[in-house]
Amino acid sequence: MAEKINLQKIGVFTSGGDAPGMNAAIRAVSRTALQKNLEVVGIMGGYQGMIDKDFQQLTPRAMANILQRGGTILKTGRCPEFHKPEFRTLAINNLKEAGIQALVCIGGDGSFTGAQLLYKEHQFPIIGIPGTIDNDIWGTDLTIGFDTAVNTALSSIDKIRDTADSHDRLFIIEVMGRNSGFIAANVGVAGGAEEILAPDFPMPIDHIINRIQDARARGKKSSVIIAAEGEKPGRAYDLAEQFRKRANLEAKVSILGHQQRGGSPSANDRILASQMGAFAVQALLNGEKDKMVGIQAGNIVLVPLSDAVFNEKRTPEHLLELARLLAM
Ligand code: ADP
Ligand code: F6P
Ligand code: MG
Repeated sequence: MAEKINLQKIGVFTSGGDAPGMNAAIRAVSRTALQKNLEVVGIMGGYQGMIDKDFQQLTPRAMANILQRGGTILKTGRCPEFHKPEFRTLAINNLKEAGIQALVCIGGDGSFTGAQLLYKEHQFPIIGIPGTIDNDIWGTDLTIGFDTAVNTALSSIDKIRDTADSHDRLFIIEVMGRNSGFIAANVGVAGGAEEILAPDFPMPIDHIINRIQDARARGKKSSVIIAAEGEKPGRAYDLAEQFRKRANLEAKVSILGHQQRGGSPSANDRILASQMGAFAVQALLNGEKDKMVGIQAGNIVLVPLSDAVFNEKRTPEHLLELARLLAM
């Protein structure tokens, strides 16, 4: 049983890339805490706000009408200083000075690495809520924003398929996800891709070219390849160049980019964020200190932050194979 503290004031922040549904999570954290008579402080702009003492008291009315909005009202950011222990100490001192006793961190794997260090170095209670379109966090089947991003990307892919089909063209569509191929795998199956390229399942270029040529030989005139961006956004252009050089194969490129991070969250993301936000506050009240809220087989669970950070969640290979099987 975790040791409880007499909790009176908590802080909440969003960090890393924004994701649709972050506002729904902020609302759920704040309103659950306020219902339990806790004070809630919004920390602006991720870890930078802790360093700059950019704190805002959150009220029930500050949460009005944000459930359906994309982005994050608390702003987000990437804070390079947080990699240095002296800035983490400064952050903790600023939080303590403001009377903040515990944190809810809504972010991705990088944000959780910072969160985990705050607990390890300063024993500061912190609960993570996975918010990233990439769905690359171990210990949870889904992250907040992934469902919306998949649907946003898919609606663009459907449009591209219309024009690809009209012109009998091959398209390489690049989707976000950094080192993870979750978005690619899901939109690839849902969008009927010929081939899905994921960073953790590399495929020789000649193999891809052969597949396209085989499809053409079978009478298929237009195809779509979904490429996860990987380390280097824009790799779809390199791929198209290779197609041209090696096989005189013309491919149009479309990079979907940051539109995938915006927009109103899907119903699923709003529900997930609401459940996770409420659960995170209850976890703090129960004395939990360095855990992440996850969803596993439909159940909301807690997993150690260190497990979420250090374990790798791989792209679902079965979806890559399924897309290949169904692309005849
Ligand atoms: P995400 O949380 O979406 O994965 P990032 O990887 O950009 O996004 O991380 C967000 C922020 O978390 C970074 O800008 C930094 O402030 C903090 N962070 C990331 N990695 C570390 C680390 N190894 N040590 C301390 N802080 C980190
Ligand atoms: O982690 C979310 C994400 O959108 C990745 O999919 C993408 O690689 C990255 O952030 C883009 O970051 P930025 O907005 O800083 O270009
Ligand atoms: Mg990340």
